[in-house]
Amino acid sequence: MAKQSVKKTTGPAAQKAAAPRARTAAELERPTPRKVTREQLIGELNNDLAKEFMALVQYVQHAAAMTGPQYDAIKAELLVHSNEEHTHAISLADQIDFLGGVPGVDVTQAHMSPDSKVMLEQDLEGELDAIARYRERIAQAEMLQEYGLRRALEDILIVEEEHARDLQDALEL
Ligand SMILES: [Fe+2]
Ligand SMILES: [Fe+2]
Repeated sequence: MAKQSVKKTTGPAAQKAAAPRARTAAELERPTPRKVTREQLIGELNNDLAKEFMALVQYVQHAAAMTGPQYDAIKAELLVHSNEEHTHAISLADQIDFLGGVPGVDVTQAHMSPDSKVMLEQDLEGELDAIARYRERIAQAEMLQEYGLRRALEDILIVEEEHARDLQDALEL
């Protein structure tokens, strides 16, 4: 869910931003996309799919396990995120099938913590990873002239950027 907010760019919060976890989506490095064949792209998309399944599971676990009244609002938001990861998984599976691949059912390892703030940091790390992967995947789709796939990936990327902003707001980054 998009929220309008003014990010702190100076002062103590900016000092904290030197830590790796405090990167914003806009600050992520943009390495040159690797060239891939259609077969390799299907493999990459299946890796993305396994991470969407993982994110779905991780958000459900974190929303249930998070404790403290200060987390009530973000807990509700995590369940919204979980449903959106589900939508992404459906879109990726359809795109993999359309490209002639077989959508996988693998789920990468989710992250857990007894500490609610650490859970949010784990969620943010996952979103920043997703943003970096989808930026590369969009460029790869473009290289292979798969414009329908590119459009589907752009729609996913927009939502992952919103997810990252929600988590950064909750963590007061
Ligand atoms: Fe996603
Ligand atoms: Fe996400």
